[in-house]
Amino acid sequence: MKACMAMLCISATSLTWSALAAQNTQITSKAAKESVYDEIEKAPGKARAKRNPFEQNADAASAGKILFEQHCAECHGETALGGKKAPSLRAVEIQNASPGAVFWILTNGVVRRGMPVWSKLPEPQRWQLVTYIKSLGIASSEVADDTPKKP
Ligand code: HEC
Repeated sequence: MKACMAMLCISATSLTWSALAAQNTQITSKAAKESVYDEIEKAPGKARAKRNPFEQNADAASAGKILFEQHCAECHGETALGGKKAPSLRAVEIQNASPGAVFWILTNGVVRRGMPVWSKLPEPQRWQLVTYIKSLGIASSEVADDTPKKP
């Protein structure tokens, strides 16, 4: 339990740092090319720190899989490796992001870049989606040839 608390502390500190770093990049490199995974890095510290109530829960992952097929697969591909309209969700950037950051993306979308807002899905369903996505793990996006390449 103590070790667990320490981990929380460490991740909270590194979250603050990465939030600061993200802000810096925004200011200093506005003209820099945007990546398809830029948005998730902008998740505020508080959102990132949110705990997934279904972390590692196999039932939630199965429920999330069904939701994914219903709502996300048409753009992100059946196995989340990316499709014609949207990038892979099995990239390091997403798999290593905190569950709270993925949840934040679902809640807010990236509307100007074609990622819809999913705030109409009840919160538990959004967490089920997060659980499913996280259960997939990192995979090379090269598996899907039609994944949009990073600029
Ligand atoms: C209409 C097509 C479309 C649908 C449907 C869609 N997405 Fe996306 N999604 C996108 C696009 C396009 C991007 C890339 C946005 C960008 O360039 O930042 C994206 C990006 C993302 C990202 C990465 C965020 C970032 O840009 O850093 C996540 C996570 C994500 N989608 C999850 C989902 C989930 C989960 C669903 C289903 C609930 C879903 N998407 C449904 C089009 C879609």
